[in-house]
Amino acid sequence: MPHRKEVLVTGGCGYIGSHAVRALNEAGFAPVVLDNLSTGHLEALTAAGDFKLYQAELRDENALESCFKQHRFTGVLHFAGVALVGESVRDPEKYYGTNVIGSLNLIAVCKRHGVKNLVFSSTAATYGVPQSVPMAEDHPQHPINPYGRTKLTFEQALQSYHGAGQIDYLALRYFNAAGSDPRGDIGEAHDPETHLIPNAYRVALGQLAHLTVHGNDYPTPDGTCIRDYIHVTDLAEAHVLALTHLLNGGVSGAMNLGTGQGHSVLDVVKACEAASGRKIPVVMGARREGDPPSLVADPGKAKQVLGFAARRSDLATIAADAWRWFEKHPHGYAS
Ligand SMILES: NC(=O)c1ccc[n+]([C@@H]2O[C@H](COP(=O)([O-])OP(=O)(O)OC[C@H]3O[C@@H](n4cnc5c(N)ncnc54)[C@H](O)[C@@H]3O)[C@@H](O)[C@H]2O)c1
Repeated sequence: MPHRKEVLVTGGCGYIGSHAVRALNEAGFAPVVLDNLSTGHLEALTAAGDFKLYQAELRDENALESCFKQHRFTGVLHFAGVALVGESVRDPEKYYGTNVIGSLNLIAVCKRHGVKNLVFSSTAATYGVPQSVPMAEDHPQHPINPYGRTKLTFEQALQSYHGAGQIDYLALRYFNAAGSDPRGDIGEAHDPETHLIPNAYRVALGQLAHLTVHGNDYPTPDGTCIRDYIHVTDLAEAHVLALTHLLNGGVSGAMNLGTGQGHSVLDVVKACEAASGRKIPVVMGARREGDPPSLVADPGKAKQVLGFAARRSDLATIAADAWRWFEKHPHGYAS
C-alpha cells in the first residue's frame, strides 16, 4: 500500500469529526485523532475506519507535543471545541479556555513541528444577526454570544499567524450540520441535544411527547425560523477538499459551508415525518433569545475555490439518512 499522509483530526470522536475521519480514510489519508472524549464517542471512531487515537486535552500543550513528536502530520483538521450557545453564556471560561486557549496551544505546537496546514471548524454564529440573506463571507461579523465570539477570535488569530507566514488555513463557517452517513452506523449523539432533527426524532421514537417550536411569529412564510441545513457527509467531503487545497498551495481564508437553500422549522418537521412515517406533534413555544428569523449561506466561494457541491443536502435525503441512524440507535452510542 502506498504511504498514506498522516492528518491530525482534533475532535475526531465527535459528530462531524467522525464523518471526516471516514472521508479521510476513503480519500487515502491516515487519520490520527486527538480527543478528550468529553462529548465524543469511541464507537464513532471505531466505525469510521483506520485511526490512531490520543485521548488528550487540547488545553494540555504537553499532551499535544507528545502526539506531534510521534507523527509527521501533513495537516490538521481542527474540530475539537465546545459548541453550546446557552452554556457559553453561563460559562464563558469554558468556551474561551477550550475554543481560544486550546486552539492557540494547537497552533503553537504546529509551529514548533513545522505543520503548516490547518482547517478550522468555524460557524455561521460568527456573523451574528444577518443584515441580509444569503450571507457571503464578507458579511460583517458581530457574534451575539460567547460561543460565536470565541470562534471569531480564533479565526482572527489564524489570519494573524498567516500574515506572519506561520500557518496556512481555511476557516470553514458551517451553517446547520445535519444528517448521518447513509450506512446508518455513525450519527449525531449529543447530550444535551439542542439540534432540531435529533429532537424531532426523539418525538418520533416516543422519547418526547412533542417537539417545542421556538417561535412561530417570525417574518417568514410559516412564521418559524429558516436555516440552511448541510449534510454531514457533504461537510466531511468539503474538509478533504479544503485540506487538498492547502496541500496544493491554495489561498488561505474563510469560507461558508451551506447550500444557499433555507428551510423552516415546520418544513424540517414535515420531512422528518415523511422519512420516519411517524407523526411528530409540535407545540408552539416562545422565541429563544438571539435566534434570527433566517440564516442562509451564500455558498458561491466554496464552489468556486474548492469545487465543492453539496450532494446529499436536500432536506428529504438529510431526513432519511438521519432517520436510518436514529432508528438503529434510538439511544445513541452505547458508550
Ligand atoms: N454541529 C453543528 O451544526 C456545527 C455548526 C457549526 C460549527 N460547528 C463546530 O464543529 C465542531 C464539531 O462539532 P460537532 O457537532 O461534531 O461537536 P461534537 O461535540 O460532536 O464534537 C466535538 C469533539 O471534540 C472533542 N473535544 C471537545 N473539547 C475538547 C478538548 N478540550 N480537548 C480535546 N477534545 C475535545 C469532543 O470530545 C468531541 O469528540 C465544533 O468545533 C463546533 O463548534 C458545529
